[in-house]
Amino acid sequence: MQQEYLLEVEGLKKYFPLGKGRTLHAVDDVSFAIRPGETLGLVGESGCGKTTVGRTLLKLYKPDGGRIIYRGEDITKVSGRRQRELCTHMQMIYQDPYASLNPFMTIGEIVSEGLEINKIGANRMERTAMTYELLERVGLSREHANRFPHEFSGGQRQRAGIARALAVNPEFVVCDEAISALDVSVQAQIINMLMDLRELMNLTYLFIAHDLSVVRYISQRVAVMYLGKIVEIGKASEVYVHPAHPYTQGLLGAVPVADPDFEKSKTYQAMVGEVTSPINCKPGCRFANRCPYATEECRTVTPDMKAVGADHFVACHRL
Ligand SMILES: Nc1ncnc2c1ncn2[C@@H]1O[C@H](COP(=O)(O)OP(=O)(O)OP(=O)(O)O)[C@@H](O)[C@H]1O
Ligand SMILES: [Mg+2]
Repeated sequence: MQQEYLLEVEGLKKYFPLGKGRTLHAVDDVSFAIRPGETLGLVGESGCGKTTVGRTLLKLYKPDGGRIIYRGEDITKVSGRRQRELCTHMQMIYQDPYASLNPFMTIGEIVSEGLEINKIGANRMERTAMTYELLERVGLSREHANRFPHEFSGGQRQRAGIARALAVNPEFVVCDEAISALDVSVQAQIINMLMDLRELMNLTYLFIAHDLSVVRYISQRVAVMYLGKIVEIGKASEVYVHPAHPYTQGLLGAVPVADPDFEKSKTYQAMVGEVTSPINCKPGCRFANRCPYATEECRTVTPDMKAVGADHFVACHRL
């Protein structure tokens, strides 16, 4: 049976104990779902919990609450062999390929490692052939296989990181700020390549970024996160054109968008203040202290998600 969603996340929580009775609520009751072949953009300021969501989905962190459902299977508590199998279905591309690529291994070794560990390919020769093909698929060449990460440009290193993630033929890929560290011109190339690979390999992405304009280009839907919570989620066309949460409006006000029509129509103010850390959170809207519309209710009662349109949900009392 074809499932409507590839991945469903319900009430996901990840808390980090800081000692002395202090707990950091990095991801606090986050829910969303992603359809096969779709890209969900996940945006929000530094520290809001985007990476923690990605790492918890891939079980690099143990969830503290909620459920992760993959192709209809509750994988929240799986371990051992099934978890290792899942690792070939779900992969991550990191922001900083320099930090995530072992400097003592050649690019060929880095890309083929996943093939070896998961016993993909009949023998060494076949794995080498697969490695060459992967390198070519990401715009590198087989001559690059014997070189080391430091011999590469930032863009080439990111291509190698992508080849490594795709080696095990995953279905779901978390792209965590995969292009944030690159020059703007290189960013466009990598984004286009990720979109081509999405078609070619039937990939489904969770695409994490600060930059709303980048996410708009690649995502069908967008989720906006603030201090461990999703405050708005919906079709990209809806969220960008009719942002309903004051935080989303603030983010759009803060980001110059390369679209003259949009710039003209833009009436949102850039936000003041900075994100704090979500430590020992009390009930109430976490954005209340920065929100120009906040009332007493906002400061004391946590807002639920409400539908504001077709496939568009917002957590705000003031709608
Ligand atoms: N291993 C950890 N131990 C303790 N606290 C952590 C850990 N990882 C993340 N945090 C905290 O959890 C919160 C969310 O961090 P996270 O890295 O998920 O944010 P982010 O949205 O990815 O930020 P950025 O945009 O800077 O990458 C932050 O307050 C961070 O300090
Ligand atoms: Mg991050």
